Amino acid sequence: MRLQVIDHPLVAHKLTALRRKETPSPVFRQLVEELMTLLAYEATRDIDVEPLEIETPVAKTTGTALSNPLPIVVPILRAGLGMLSGMERIMPTAEVGFLGMKRDEETFEAVTYANRLPDDLSNRQCFVLDPMLATGHTLIASIDYLLERGAKDVTAICLLGAPEGIKALEDHVGDRADVTVVLAAVDERLNEKGYIVPGLGDAGDRLYG
Ligand code: PRP
Repeated sequence: MRLQVIDHPLVAHKLTALRRKETPSPVFRQLVEELMTLLAYEATRDIDVEPLEIETPVAKTTGTALSNPLPIVVPILRAGLGMLSGMERIMPTAEVGFLGMKRDEETFEAVTYANRLPDDLSNRQCFVLDPMLATGHTLIASIDYLLERGAKDVTAICLLGAPEGIKALEDHVGDRADVTVVLAAVDERLNEKGYIVPGLGDAGDRLYG
């Protein structure tokens, strides 16, 4: 597994505003979108492209186009939905599929309650969007789901990660190179409720109430 923590002053600035408990939902949503655009820029660095012959008003030239099949973006409902618009802004032609997952607050296991994805993901580059990587159960289940359907590679984009969840994911995925996790920050730890500390609270609630 490849892990990339984005070290960028604008990311740090926006993340600080996001963490503040007094930040209201409309501002929180806006910040998530802005952060996502910055993270998506880095997370799409290895996206597959191919040459494309075009004509400018002046001359013929060879440009670059996204390869087919186009990448698929998978926000994890609910909170991942808040990251989708930021991703669509920089990659508007990507397909979008949905996974609905809810963490059991007693066992911390991830329960899948919705799935709107193609059955066959052969050769597809997949981008999973979920703001929080806490115990890692949700991300492990969603990455497994995509790889089982033949995804070429999976890049998970998260805002915050806890060391416990990152380790669980690393232990599960091992050294395979087709899984990448991109994070805006790694926090200190999980508390007894499985919340990231210092974190930003419950991202789903802060986005959608
Ligand atoms: C939160 C968060 C992640 C998951 C992370 O979702 O958005 O999906 O928990 O936890 P984990 O790493 O321990 O699995 P939640 O279950 O609260 O659902 P929501 O997005 O609908 O609020």
